Amino acid sequence: MESFEALRDEWLKALDEAQTESEVLELKGRFVGKKRGKIQDLLMQLKSAPPEERPLLGQAVNKLKGDAEAAIEAALKRVRAKRTQLEPIDVTLPGLRPNAGHLHPITRVRREIEDIFVSMGYAVAMGPEVEDPYHNFEALNTPADHPSRDIQDTFYLEGGLLLRTQTSPVQIRTMESRRPPIKIIAPGRVFRRDDDVSHSPMFFQVEGLVVDRGITMSDLKGTLLQFYRSLFQRDVNIRFRPSYFPFTEPSAETDLSCVICSGAGCPVCKRTGWLEVGGCGMVDPAVFASVGYDPEEYSGFAFGLGIDRMAMLKYGIDNIKYFYENDLAFLEQF
Ligand code: PHE
Repeated sequence: MESFEALRDEWLKALDEAQTESEVLELKGRFVGKKRGKIQDLLMQLKSAPPEERPLLGQAVNKLKGDAEAAIEAALKRVRAKRTQLEPIDVTLPGLRPNAGHLHPITRVRREIEDIFVSMGYAVAMGPEVEDPYHNFEALNTPADHPSRDIQDTFYLEGGLLLRTQTSPVQIRTMESRRPPIKIIAPGRVFRRDDDVSHSPMFFQVEGLVVDRGITMSDLKGTLLQFYRSLFQRDVNIRFRPSYFPFTEPSAETDLSCVICSGAGCPVCKRTGWLEVGGCGMVDPAVFASVGYDPEEYSGFAFGLGIDRMAMLKYGIDNIKYFYENDLAFLEQF
């Protein structure tokens, strides 16, 4: 009991001497804190006291606790009153701006692309990133000996599945589940065993697919021209160069007049004035056959473009890796 008295005196003195709120709060923790507070200690020790002494000791500890809490309250009041006297709060000071995040540049460009196509009447479709070879290759008229199916180019998973190498399987999944007319884009991640300044093993594509009666290649070209003009907000031009994809016939590479030098020739377009921006073509009848559409009745076009590539051109970025390193010094610029 005597040591309780001594403790009380010691505490009251310490609280009396405390000058700031943090000092008082520190003492509060030491005396009545739930974790390592002295009162908590005493309550634990009570368990080892002789049973007949426990009630009395318990009462004393509780009184000590009550006294300490009252003294802490009083001390807090005192230091707080002093603080507001000393440093009045200037309510006209600007507030602290919270550190808000923002969208990743790839997400921004993806949304811009979606908005442009949605404004042209397209729906946004999604497909799985883990695909089966049928949807990623066979149904897209890509034979087993096609180089893109090689283990060097494609990530294969256990159980015969793979990481999709392109968003084109969403063409198949969409046509399997619906009848024409179809007018979709399909943005998403794709994966390839490829790694240098312009290739990342994971990157983003947008697929486009339009199927209806009487769709022609000039619909394709007009659509892409309109799209690129909206995306880059200027009078860019495109040209088609003959190419080959198993799932389109005829196929083309789309070249975009260089958005950096407007066609004059610069390092980005390798002095040609043109940038290769994506593959496209008319849907191959073999693809219609795999989804049960009649190629005599319907025709369609498809295209694929890289979101990373668009973002690099839009923001003048020369290494695709910057998008995936999560370096804030880079990301905060957007
Ligand atoms: N899937 C092709 C690729 O990734 C691009 C493409 C899509 C080509 C649609 C034609 C039609 O290279």
